[in-house]
Amino acid sequence: MNRYEFLKSMGLTGAALMAALTSCVHDDDSVVNALTISPVQSGTTTTPATSTTATTPTTSTTTATGNGTDLSAIKNRLLTVDLSSQAASELKKVGGYIAQSGIVVAQVSAGVYVAVTQTCSHEPKKQVIFNVSEFYCTAHGARFDLTGKGKNSFGSRGIAVYKVATDGLTLVVYS
Ligand code: FES
Repeated sequence: MNRYEFLKSMGLTGAALMAALTSCVHDDDSVVNALTISPVQSGTTTTPATSTTATTPTTSTTTATGNGTDLSAIKNRLLTVDLSSQAASELKKVGGYIAQSGIVVAQVSAGVYVAVTQTCSHEPKKQVIFNVSEFYCTAHGARFDLTGKGKNSFGSRGIAVYKVATDGLTLVVYS
């Protein structure tokens, strides 16, 4: 097979064939590197020359990964909360809180969670809640700020604050 026959077999016709034949190759070249020649569609058929563009993968794998935070390395877990569960529905709004396993977790501002022990430091009563912008004991009125510092005499001993991490799907309280 000579170069003309080879190029014709590649589908080259007309001007494209002439351009390929007159390109910088020697007369005695009998083989043209087929990988450097883009097939040119001729005349009336105009199907796209590339077949690799239509099937790029979509991002479906990112839909269930939350914010990308890796919670797997967290040790000393005290509480794990599935944020999609009904029990955690209060945590979806700013100012909402839950009390589970002796821990109060509140969303204190958009996407910011703080966790403290549910047991008051005034007397060991498990009556601490989150109230608007602070932790509060319903027994005698002890008040604690978001760092656990007491805000009145009943709360003067402060309250234990725990670490919190979330990937947007799960929330982990740990020490
Ligand atoms: S037990 Fe909490 S304020 Fe007294």
